[in-house]
Amino acid sequence: MKASELIKTDRGYRLLVDGKPFLALGGEVHNSSPSDAAYMEEHVWPNVRKLNLNTLIVPVFWELFEPEQGTFDFSLVDSLLRQAEREGVKLVLLWFGLWKNGESTYVPAWMKQDTETYFLVRDRFGKPFHCISPLCTAAVKRDAAAFTQLMTYLREKDINKTVIITQVENEMGVVGEVRDFSPAANDAFHKEAPETAAQLAGKTGTWPELFGEDAPEFFMAYQYAVAVEKIAAAGKAAYDMPMYVNCWMDQFPRIPGNFPSGGPVAHVMDIWKKAAPSVDFLSPDIYLPYFEDICAQFKKPENPLFIPEARPSADSAANVFSAVGKFHALGFAPFAIEDFGSSESGAPGEDVLKILDIDPAAFEKNQQAGDRLGESYALLNNMSDLLLAHYGTDALQGFTQYQLPGTVLSFQRYNIVIRYSREQDASGGGLVVELDKNRFLIAGRNFKFSFCPKTSAETCAQVASIEEGEHKNGAWQKARVLNGDERYIPQLGDCAQALLVTVREVR
Ligand code: DGJ
Repeated sequence: MKASELIKTDRGYRLLVDGKPFLALGGEVHNSSPSDAAYMEEHVWPNVRKLNLNTLIVPVFWELFEPEQGTFDFSLVDSLLRQAEREGVKLVLLWFGLWKNGESTYVPAWMKQDTETYFLVRDRFGKPFHCISPLCTAAVKRDAAAFTQLMTYLREKDINKTVIITQVENEMGVVGEVRDFSPAANDAFHKEAPETAAQLAGKTGTWPELFGEDAPEFFMAYQYAVAVEKIAAAGKAAYDMPMYVNCWMDQFPRIPGNFPSGGPVAHVMDIWKKAAPSVDFLSPDIYLPYFEDICAQFKKPENPLFIPEARPSADSAANVFSAVGKFHALGFAPFAIEDFGSSESGAPGEDVLKILDIDPAAFEKNQQAGDRLGESYALLNNMSDLLLAHYGTDALQGFTQYQLPGTVLSFQRYNIVIRYSREQDASGGGLVVELDKNRFLIAGRNFKFSFCPKTSAETCAQVASIEEGEHKNGAWQKARVLNGDERYIPQLGDCAQALLVTVREVR
């Protein structure tokens, strides 16, 4: 049996781990944490243990993996495997190869030194960037060979099937220019565009002729996708598992180069899908506050939603309910996860965040952020069988507060009005599973709810009973029955919890 598999059902995509549907509730560690196994032991595992996650997302660095050309060091990967096995946590490995945040800082020193063979992206004036050009086939070939070594090692040594997904490269694209102006790139840009581009445009011609103002970004998307396809396909041939690419989101003002031009943002999803068929999905790194708008851009019939980097702010504990309940995501993972369980902030300095175009608010946590995320994860993890059984149906709906006073969910017999209980923060979020027309499992935090009959019905909706409890081990485990004072205004508090609510329609 494969370690993991992505299957397409008539109700959308499912991630199977050990043959069963799996919901990845995880976190991504800081970039440098896994460069030292002892650091992971001392500073990461003790902090993340409290968070109830089932998946940890960690980079593997090409520069440390292939320090001499053709000589590979598997020791860091091996210790990660052993640590994760011991913790009972699955891994998503990030291949920090040719590109990381639009640069080539993780390529081995022997490659960095040889800029003749491994040529760089250039701006319109010919100035080189710290980024190897995706048109440099020699570099792509070396990256594919190293990635193949990694995947072969996993196939042979990961006998407990701890690694379930790999990310190929990290937030690639050209930063600071609309496109690559190296001689190879200029030549390709002004030549007749390849068939993939012509098919998308419905005509033939050069890139500018086909795509006008969009040409530089579309051209770069194609070049990166073609390069990544070579790397991902080689890796998959060695060891087949789901693979994806992640993006640094485009944001206002949308000028390619302000965000990595050619990176796998939703605007160029068609190009990526056509030119990189070995990439199973495109994923957003969500540091922007309008979480649901971004999820909606990436959840498509041909693209399941997986969020490898969610903003590591306190609202993660609410946003995860929307990712799962509304967007039926394969997985959710805040960045800098080790900080959630720690008293130290660990956030990159404001000057670093400025370079990365990230608002410092994305890293703002309160003291309880770790506890709150841990509670959300425990609740969702225990009920994941129920949730996954309802994926792809309207019986599972979710929501998160952001800037809204509430939302209205429409089910078969009733509408449910959700009102967030705390206006001063964005801590409200939850989901509802319609178990049958009159029974609902309501889970989440910081909201009140009430039932209304559908507007067309001449009836009223009466709450017949409310039980506290938890869906665990495949069944509802009842706790208190809420009546009297606890029933006037049904609500969920600051700690994530679940209620089983029975409603009746009264004429
Ligand atoms: C997004 C990148 O993908 C991460 O590796 C990291 O650099 C964060 N930005 C910022 O800390």
